[in-house]
Amino acid sequence: MKKVVIDCDPGIDDAMALLMAFASDEIDVLGITAVSGNVPVENTAENALALTELAGQDIEVAAGACKPLSKAPHHAYHVHGDNGLGGVSLPAKGKLSSSTAVELLIDRIKAHPGKIEIIALGPLTNIALLLKDYPEAVEQIKKIIIMGGALKGGNATDFAEFNIYADPHAADIVFTSGVPVDMYGLDATNRVLLSPEEVKGLASMGGKVLTPLAKMLDFYLSFYKSVGYEGLGMHDPFTVACVIDPSLSQMVETAIRVECDDPVTMGQTMMVEDVPACCRAAVEPDSEAFKTLFLDLMKSFL
Ligand code: RIB
Ligand code: CA
Repeated sequence: MKKVVIDCDPGIDDAMALLMAFASDEIDVLGITAVSGNVPVENTAENALALTELAGQDIEVAAGACKPLSKAPHHAYHVHGDNGLGGVSLPAKGKLSSSTAVELLIDRIKAHPGKIEIIALGPLTNIALLLKDYPEAVEQIKKIIIMGGALKGGNATDFAEFNIYADPHAADIVFTSGVPVDMYGLDATNRVLLSPEEVKGLASMGGKVLTPLAKMLDFYLSFYKSVGYEGLGMHDPFTVACVIDPSLSQMVETAIRVECDDPVTMGQTMMVEDVPACCRAAVEPDSEAFKTLFLDLMKSFL
């Protein structure tokens, strides 16, 4: 089993990704950290805790950064709703950890040197703070798997993907840190869409997990339809699926730098050639195989 800490900003696709990780025998989730992103960190942390409880998991959840390193907070209420879960009320019963996200991350890294894989599904603020506060962690983290960026295009702007755009300075710290990075960007994730029929199929399964999830997906799907998509974006779920089964995506070796100055292309992730390649970028998703895995894992909540 892979030992992971998931850093996230639930967020409806984060919710599906968390449920997949909980259901998979390939992943041991040693902790969850929340970051400001889709919605403020007060909501993302509460949502992460509530989703953990909904899935019957006993996993420590810590709140992290309430704002990016150098920018004003940037949210996506229009995509994920005001509470981050499409307006579905999912109050947490338990308490968040008294640790910060960075404290939880370094605790797991020190307890399992060389073994922890960080799955980052939101802006990279917490991860950048970890690397700034504990530079020795660079040698002790096995890998950082990022949902974010794009070799071409963007969704927050024409040039930048949301997670990177929300905190480009943090992203550049992570990409230049020397920690091996697997980047699942829009080049792959924009081609993995759950259709309205597949959403209906999930809703028809019922149960205490899939019924609220289906309601979240109705909100999320209405956004994607409003911008001309045939289905809803499975950005974070596809990223977790590739941790479970790396054969789901072809990867290219590269080095990535992040635009942090130009106001027009701010947050763009650029392939560079004159530095060592310590990043792999996803380029070719196996969408059908992903959906089979996704639905199998969701059925485990029936
Ligand atoms: O661009 C999509 C990414 O930004 C996803 O992780 C989504 O949850 C948001 O965080
Ligand atoms: Ca996310």
